[in-house]
Amino acid sequence: MKKIKSTTSFVCQECGYDTPSWFGKCPECGTWNSLKEIRNVSAPVETSNGITLGSSTVKAQTLKEIVYSKTLRIQTEYEELNTVLGGGIVQGGALLMAGDPGVGKSTLLLQLCLSLAREGKKVLYVSGEESVEQIKMRALRIDAKQPQKKGPIATQENLLLISLTNTDLIVKQIEEIKPELVIIDSIQTIESQNVSGLSGSVGQVRYGALQFVRIAKQTNIPVVIVGHVTKEGMVAGPMVLSHMVDTVLFLEGEKFAKTRILRSLKNRFGPVDEVGIFLMEEDGMQEVTNPEQLFLSNDRADVPGSVLVSTLEGSRAFLVELQALVISSKLPMPRRVVSGIDPRRVELLLAVLQKHCQLPVETMDVFVNVAGGLKLADPGIDLGICLAVYSSLRNVPMSKTVGIAEVGLLGELRNVPGIEKRVKEAQKLGFKNVITPKTQRSLRDVIGAFKKS
Ligand code: TYD
Ligand code: MG
Repeated sequence: MKKIKSTTSFVCQECGYDTPSWFGKCPECGTWNSLKEIRNVSAPVETSNGITLGSSTVKAQTLKEIVYSKTLRIQTEYEELNTVLGGGIVQGGALLMAGDPGVGKSTLLLQLCLSLAREGKKVLYVSGEESVEQIKMRALRIDAKQPQKKGPIATQENLLLISLTNTDLIVKQIEEIKPELVIIDSIQTIESQNVSGLSGSVGQVRYGALQFVRIAKQTNIPVVIVGHVTKEGMVAGPMVLSHMVDTVLFLEGEKFAKTRILRSLKNRFGPVDEVGIFLMEEDGMQEVTNPEQLFLSNDRADVPGSVLVSTLEGSRAFLVELQALVISSKLPMPRRVVSGIDPRRVELLLAVLQKHCQLPVETMDVFVNVAGGLKLADPGIDLGICLAVYSSLRNVPMSKTVGIAEVGLLGELRNVPGIEKRVKEAQKLGFKNVITPKTQRSLRDVIGAFKKS
């Protein structure tokens, strides 16, 4: 008979530190009284036949012995989602959908469920946050306003909703129903009696995720786990989770802007730098296949302080408008207010402008903003930032100019990845004045050219 040994470990509920013995203070993060006892139901046991865990024996295989079948993917109706996932949802994959509370995770996933249900696929939506009536109301609202989609909720037999927070019961339900996709909304609301601690604690989140990942692998049913993350950083939950799941998607967006960007932070089955762009509308999330319509207004006036940059997100280049406002300051330490870009990057570029282009920015208040509520971390927008500041400072309109280059500390223009793609995108939209490291060598030359004209 195989022996199953039960062990316990103590896990810090703040940082996830794991130790076999109890401490009053966590040795890792220094929090008092945060270690909770967690029971590991079974641990590997060494017997004369090798290592066994529960009922399975571990055995290494040679490459030749391993049978490989091509991963099957579920294509969704949402091209943006398919792209981010690298071609669809992988069967048996565990996916974490992380994001701020209220950003639209539940909405997007419910839309996904509705569209799969319409294709005749059975999907299970487990919610620990809302009642099934609430979800139905939302589903009806989303469904009613999607004329391009096939028919009304003909999907009622295929979309199963359940409001449940018990981890073990959820696993049972998945085993019984055998749907083609499961959504768990959210990991912070589920709990099990097998683990101590309240829902949302590291122990519960970890246990829950482990169970769902296991059931996904066993049954080959893809499981999507929703995890809330706060601005202050990844809270215990999703941080612990990202190691366990195959794919981590992050949905981001500003509270008062409609734009939502779906990024993949980790993907065992695809690329990690693709993004999907959505708009949060009254009737759910709409895909944005043409980002320019979002970040550029058609009737942009030729007001100083506005410059276009061609940014690269994943494999896709698109134009975004940068705006700067530069006014003389009354403060000994002039203000630098930046949104959508790293403020330190702007500080650095202002120093370059001051030193190499003799612009008096040290006495100026500088405000820089990315239009459309987008966040950019692309070095290729450096030149755009400098031009926007110059444009506002000297009252030179530049709204028809596209700048694509990184700016070095010596004021030199540097090449950036995907330059051809970026230039092509700008030209496609009819912009002729595209400044790149090929057309100009330094920031000084660029600004000199504007001075002359
Ligand atoms: P939700 O999907 O519940 O966010 P999450 O699951 O990430 O917490 O979305 C909540 C917000 O979205 C809420 O403030 C209302 C808004 N919303 C819309 O603007 N349009 C819609 O069609 C829906 C369903 C929600
Ligand atoms: Mg939600």
